[in-house]
Amino acid sequence: MVQGFVQCLQCYYQSGCLYRLRALGERHNMDLTVEGFQSWMWKGLTFLLPFLFFGHFWQLFNSISLFNMAQLPDCTEGQVLLCGLCFHLLFLGNFLTTSRRVGLGGGELQSIIMADQAADGDQTIPVTSEPLFSSLDYILISVVLCSVIYWFMSRKKPEPIPEFRSLETTTPTTRETSFIEKMKRTNKNIIVFYGSQTGTAEEFANRLSKDAQRYGMKGMAADPEEYSMGELSRLSEIPNSLAIFCMATYGEGDPTDNAQDFYDWLQESDDEDMTGLNYTVFALGNKTYEHYNAMGKYVDKRLEELKATRIFDLGMGDDDGNLEEDFVSWRERFWPAVCEHFGVEASGDDASIRQYELKEHTDLNMNKVYSGEIGRLKSFDNQKPPFDSKNPFLAPVTVNRKLNKGGERHLMHLELDISGSKIRYESGDHVAVFPINDPTLVNKLGQVLGVDLDVVISLNNLDEESNKKHPFPCPTTYRTALTHYLDITNSPRTNVLYELAQYASDPKDQENMRKMASSSPEGKALYQSWVLDACRNILAILEDMPSLRPPIDHLCELLPRLQARYYSIASSSKVHPNHIHICAVVVEYNTPTGRTNKGVATNWLKNKLVSDNGHKSTVPMYIRKSQFRLPFKPTNPVIMVGPGTGIAPFMGFIQERGWLKKQGKEVGETVMYFGCRHREEDYLYQEELEEAAQSGVLTQLHVAFSRDQEQKVYVQHLIKKNKENLWKMVHTDNAHIYVCGDARNMARDVQTAFHEIAEEFGGMTRTQATDYIKKLMTKGRYSQDVWS
Ligand SMILES: Cc1cc2nc3c(=O)[nH]c(=O)nc-3n(C[C@H](O)[C@H](O)[C@H](O)COP(=O)(O)OP(=O)(O)OC[C@H]3O[C@@H](n4cnc5c(N)ncnc54)[C@H](O)[C@@H]3O)c2cc1C
Ligand SMILES: NC(=O)c1ccc[n+]([C@@H]2O[C@H](COP(=O)([O-])OP(=O)(O)OC[C@H]3O[C@@H](n4cnc5c(N)ncnc54)[C@H](OP(=O)(O)O)[C@@H]3O)[C@@H](O)[C@H]2O)c1
Ligand SMILES: Cc1cc2nc3c(=O)[nH]c(=O)nc-3n(C[C@H](O)[C@H](O)[C@H](O)COP(=O)(O)O)c2cc1C
Repeated sequence: MVQGFVQCLQCYYQSGCLYRLRALGERHNMDLTVEGFQSWMWKGLTFLLPFLFFGHFWQLFNSISLFNMAQLPDCTEGQVLLCGLCFHLLFLGNFLTTSRRVGLGGGELQSIIMADQAADGDQTIPVTSEPLFSSLDYILISVVLCSVIYWFMSRKKPEPIPEFRSLETTTPTTRETSFIEKMKRTNKNIIVFYGSQTGTAEEFANRLSKDAQRYGMKGMAADPEEYSMGELSRLSEIPNSLAIFCMATYGEGDPTDNAQDFYDWLQESDDEDMTGLNYTVFALGNKTYEHYNAMGKYVDKRLEELKATRIFDLGMGDDDGNLEEDFVSWRERFWPAVCEHFGVEASGDDASIRQYELKEHTDLNMNKVYSGEIGRLKSFDNQKPPFDSKNPFLAPVTVNRKLNKGGERHLMHLELDISGSKIRYESGDHVAVFPINDPTLVNKLGQVLGVDLDVVISLNNLDEESNKKHPFPCPTTYRTALTHYLDITNSPRTNVLYELAQYASDPKDQENMRKMASSSPEGKALYQSWVLDACRNILAILEDMPSLRPPIDHLCELLPRLQARYYSIASSSKVHPNHIHICAVVVEYNTPTGRTNKGVATNWLKNKLVSDNGHKSTVPMYIRKSQFRLPFKPTNPVIMVGPGTGIAPFMGFIQERGWLKKQGKEVGETVMYFGCRHREEDYLYQEELEEAAQSGVLTQLHVAFSRDQEQKVYVQHLIKKNKENLWKMVHTDNAHIYVCGDARNMARDVQTAFHEIAEEFGGMTRTQATDYIKKLMTKGRYSQDVWS
């Protein structure tokens, strides 16, 4: 049958259709010869025929994901067959008409073909007098078109999504991109935007929007990613309105992910006129970073350039000092300025305002209860790519070994298996892991508060218009909330103490808690010493203030979210495409109150054994791209400086340079500066490093053992020893410098060492040397991957 049909088509093309095509070719000076066309048609038709005939092409294409990507509509096999038949009809019908027109019967076809093939292109006479399409062609084309339209119109409707009983999830039910319309509808006049990565700016935004109520105003916190920021100039339509921006800075002075689009828009919005927009900015940053509070400063300056009215000075929060105190002090001065500007007065009502109401579930199917998922319910049981911050991949741990040979600390090397996840990474990227809190701490909290942690609850936002329906995925149990979702180990912020104070039955405790939350010098000092310096977490506070027994649901409402932890990937995807390596040091320290505090993620990772009672241990993770990249040209020399766990990304870099060498590529000088306490104790990856040096992958390996002699020896001391060579590499050979590890002291000291080298060998002043290094940074030739 197939053969017959092919023959039929062949005849069709070689008889009627070819005349026209040849004529067309001649008219348009195109090569549409019999041979060319035949071979082209054959290729196409032999491919298409099976699909047309058996009506399976949809299913087949579907399986090769090309159509999946194009998101083509689903359709039934019948519809496909109908379509195939229409084309079939068109071919046959057209063939018959053309044959008829040139006066042929079926039996004469073969001779015509022969004649046609013998013809040398002079047979233009019959076609020039014939129109390209006959009336029957038009009818057939119409039939086909109608059928195609019918096919699309009647294609299978998507299955209706089954309706579930309205169970609140983390996903907002309504997404409104117009904040102006929302503010008008809900009578709000203050909007607090936040650019936040790890939740602090978001928390501050929530506090400011809550504050507004005390001044007879109504505020809302807003994620700039969720709203159309182009509406900012319209805020003046709302009387006495104000936009507050709480903006954190990351990377090389970059915005947070959720503020990236806003930042891009601001940069391109030269034509915007923000006259009438009242605004203020509170910047969150850390002085140890090169670009201190760059994002907050930029937003503040840019809005002024666009003619908005700054109603209060830019606030600067330093996470290296006391960010909370910076914020509280700024806020204390900010609200009176707002009152003055708008001519309003504080109501004096300082009562605690709940944002969420508690609902206890007694007969809920446990399949509908969150058990630690970050996004979709049951996403850990039913893993589906793509994996990201809202849908982490459960990566099995395949290696977990101690790296240090001695000492009290535990430094570890972990390998996570990402096979089958479609996760891709590059050397220099970060892996984010979602840890859980120590169950012992969670149980102790339950005991101190005297509650059953396994009650299933939801905390529902009282503001039905809010995009954030719950503080964490709900419904869930208190145990899951305290284990997976809430930060119970960092010292609580002052707003938490303020809100909890009402539950202290001892007036002295109540007074102290309120004092610590105030901006009085005495209160600040008390908060600093009793909470921060003493490293008291919420459990320690409850233990040391026996009269304070808050309801657990209010506590859960107030505690910040437990954050993912980042690790610099210690492997190269060229060598380990299916594994991600981590090098980390376990955090554990004694507090002035005699307690031992343990880092959440590192202690949890430490206990992630490869096999846990026959089960694979897994880690919920995703990849965060970074700018920390090897030079594009392998011939460029690289200088890597990474003491302690700062070695992590350089293990990836070294693997990658070794791989390039093995591929026969020419690889430039590869210089490593590593530092640790003792050669015999914490010389991390000693074997690998020495082997790389022996094989020539590392052309120089310098190790500073800080405590193996009386005087400390650090990486920067070795850098200065080798200054002449380093200057040549940087200044003459275009070397790229990389620094990783401690942001607080090491990164700054190493930078100073390079300033000094530029001064000495470049004949520069300190200012010129600083500019020189800054220029290298701008060009991507001095990169830092640092944390504190
Ligand atoms: C981009 C990036 C890359 C990183 N890469 C790595 C890496 O490759 N390897 C690595 O080990 N870490 C890395 N980190 C750090 C890592 O993300 C975690 O912060 C670290 O592992 C601690 O996490 P934790 O949950 O165990 O500790 P947490 O529970 O977060 O406790 C840490 C906190 O405890 C407090 N603390 C710690 N020590 C003391 C002390 N002695 N006295 C008083 N308080 C103390 C501090 O407040 C500190 O912030 C990176 C961080 C970032 C941002
Ligand atoms: N936020 C967190 O919880 C957390 C957790 C882990 C690590 N970190 C940060 O990451 C850094 C690295 O930690 P780590 O345990 O891997 O390193 P580490 O073993 O403590 O230090 C590595 C080497 O760097 C030396 N060093 C100290 N100060 C230096 C300086 N100013 N310049 C150059 N070298 C210096 C150390 O010397 P000496 O010790 O002998 O002085 C040691 O020899 C830490 O400093 C810390 O800031 C933070
Ligand atoms: C990896 C990393 C990079 C950072 N880079 C900068 C920076 O370039 N400039 C700065 O001022 N602060 C920097 N910070 C500090 C953060 O901005 C600060 O901790 C802030 O409070 C975080 O707010 P968030 O919790 O809302 O994300 C950085 C912090 C981290 C962890």
